[in-house]
Amino acid sequence: MKLAIDGGTPVRSREQAHVQWPVWGEEEKANLRAVVESGVWSYSGPFERRLLAEWREYVGTNHALAAANGTVTLQIALEALGVGYGDEVILPGLTWQATAAVVVDVNAVPVLVDVEPDTWCIDPVAVEAAITDRTAAIIVVHLYGNMPDMDRILEIAHRHGLPVIEDSAHQHGAEWNGKKTGSLGTIGSFSLQLSKVLTGGEGGLLTTDDHDLWERMDALRNCGRRPETDDDAGKGSGAYATDGDLIQSGNYRITEFQAAILVAGLKRLDDQNAQRERLAAKLDDYLETVPGLSPMKRDPRQTRRTYFNWAFRYDAETFGGGGVATPAFRRALSAELSTDFEQCYEPLNDCTLYRPRTKKRYKINESHWAAIDPSRFHLPVCTEAFINTSVTTHHSFLLGGEAAYGAFVEAIEKMIASVERLRNAS
Ligand SMILES: Cc1ncc(COP(=O)(O)O)c(C=O)c1O
Repeated sequence: MKLAIDGGTPVRSREQAHVQWPVWGEEEKANLRAVVESGVWSYSGPFERRLLAEWREYVGTNHALAAANGTVTLQIALEALGVGYGDEVILPGLTWQATAAVVVDVNAVPVLVDVEPDTWCIDPVAVEAAITDRTAAIIVVHLYGNMPDMDRILEIAHRHGLPVIEDSAHQHGAEWNGKKTGSLGTIGSFSLQLSKVLTGGEGGLLTTDDHDLWERMDALRNCGRRPETDDDAGKGSGAYATDGDLIQSGNYRITEFQAAILVAGLKRLDDQNAQRERLAAKLDDYLETVPGLSPMKRDPRQTRRTYFNWAFRYDAETFGGGGVATPAFRRALSAELSTDFEQCYEPLNDCTLYRPRTKKRYKINESHWAAIDPSRFHLPVCTEAFINTSVTTHHSFLLGGEAAYGAFVEAIEKMIASVERLRNAS
């Protein structure tokens, strides 16, 4: 049986692997038409208001807000909390660059800490060790289907009087002890970018229970204006709320077109999440049976798991008797399944897309310039995951049902049967 990397027939073809993402239907089209014909193309129109009401209800918080993307939602969260120059923000070294970049953008210092080896989420011990009298906030990231130990994180934050921002860009609908992501910390932030499990093409959502934070975040997304009243909303271009002395800001608003797509997509979210969760659980069970492959930790306190990416851990010393290097394993699996299986994020202490010292605007003074140098952080667990152990794929793989499961098992068995060749490919 010739491996696909050697020109053999893959276990599944591109056509068989294809899963439509994003998913849309008649409702998206009808909603978009309604927006076009209403002339209310932005500015807290009826779809945006409906989205916020439904998201509040879904997450279980008092307030929700929409903004342009899941990067500016993080920035707005930090600014609403008053984080700025002289402050430090603790965050995991393994995440998309935006989580750290926004901290630099508000003139604060990102303090990168290591993650836990079985969840790749922020390590509470490292968080506690990093707290100083300058620490102003902790950002946790729910990543690769996992959540950090939220009980410990929230206990540490509470004891030190620190706010917690949940970067939930990857996990819409996951739950810790029955509470949804975005409702556990002080502020929740979600990305709605095209590849995410809830998408408006672009977009972001914020959640909080705190009325004052909501008011500031609403102003921050909307040029500093005070939140609108019901009378202001939905009038279309030019119908602005009252100005007023709350906080300086710019325009980070979402459009009504995005909201129109999102209210339709939200109806599908739970069903798609359940499909992904079912298949991931079955795949995780299978991984337990294969020497050299391990699922991520399944903490029973995480009562719902949602997946932007599905991930597992690879051990090159054990798989197939050993000797197949991780890049060769990822390449061979990708070729057999006609689906990309990749590394996790690059650790932020050496990440090609996180280079804060390429912008002069951050050179406030020499000590700040030194403090924002990411290479000063030591992140061995992040580095080990990136280089040696991580295998990750986009959530659309988990929408492939039984056929995807069967193909995965067949691909692994084929690779084990051809292990000698894979050793040579390493
Ligand atoms: C963990 C994390 N945080 C924040 C973001 C930023 O979201 P956006 O792309 O909507 O700006 C992303 C995007 O991928 C992300 O993965």
